[in-house]
Amino acid sequence: MRKPVIAGNWKLFKTITESVALVNELKPLVAGNQGVEIVVAPVFTALSRVGDAIKGSNISMASQDCYWEEEGAFTGEVAPKLLKDAGCSHVIIGHSERRQYFGETDLTVNKKAKAAIAAGLSAIVCVGESLTERESDQTFNVIETQIKGGLEGLADLAFTHIVIAYEPVWAIGTGKTASDAQAQEVHAFIRQLIARLFGKPVADAVRILYGGSVKPDNVKGLMTQPDIDGALVGGASLKAESFAAIANF
Ligand code: 13P
Repeated sequence: MRKPVIAGNWKLFKTITESVALVNELKPLVAGNQGVEIVVAPVFTALSRVGDAIKGSNISMASQDCYWEEEGAFTGEVAPKLLKDAGCSHVIIGHSERRQYFGETDLTVNKKAKAAIAAGLSAIVCVGESLTERESDQTFNVIETQIKGGLEGLADLAFTHIVIAYEPVWAIGTGKTASDAQAQEVHAFIRQLIARLFGKPVADAVRILYGGSVKPDNVKGLMTQPDIDGALVGGASLKAESFAAIANF
């Protein structure tokens, strides 16, 4: 049995005070939820304070990115061990917004995933096709390239610390969710690909999250699909009530 993961990606929203307030509001709403791994991903500046606020709760924390070196002359970067120090257990890697606006490639995703796992973090590795790619029937090719490149050279053992997030770019922030069947189709493809690359036990165990306009009213349908093991939530994670409703699906 794969324990579902519901993760909230707060993107570039909320001050430190607002982030702490949000997580404090969320805590009692999900306190009784032991069946789901609940993760929030605030901006870098709020990590340490949110990290303090979630101590002793059933909420864990991710950063939205990391660098792959441990330390050195890398102005502006943050190392995985420093994220751990701030209270993170997870890190989101290769989000489509990073690929689109900040030059993230499968190679940098791969370096970051390896560094994150080496530092003891779980990596939430994001993949997903654009609308043009979907419309030109490139979805499976794109996903295969991203998975092969992003996870290249990872040992089977590393997979206890890997979560995959399928986020079709055309569904992010658009209010246009993939249908349950569209999402399931790609999730099943990813699981088969992982089985091919890393073996069936790894594929059976790895959690594959769906992301893209997940809301309280569509989460259930998605979560009943056999290969959907959770959600990476953007907009609806910015309010405690809607994120709790998703986490408590
Ligand atoms: P929305 O839920 O706002 O579509 O964002 C999805 C996302 O990008 C999560 O990482």
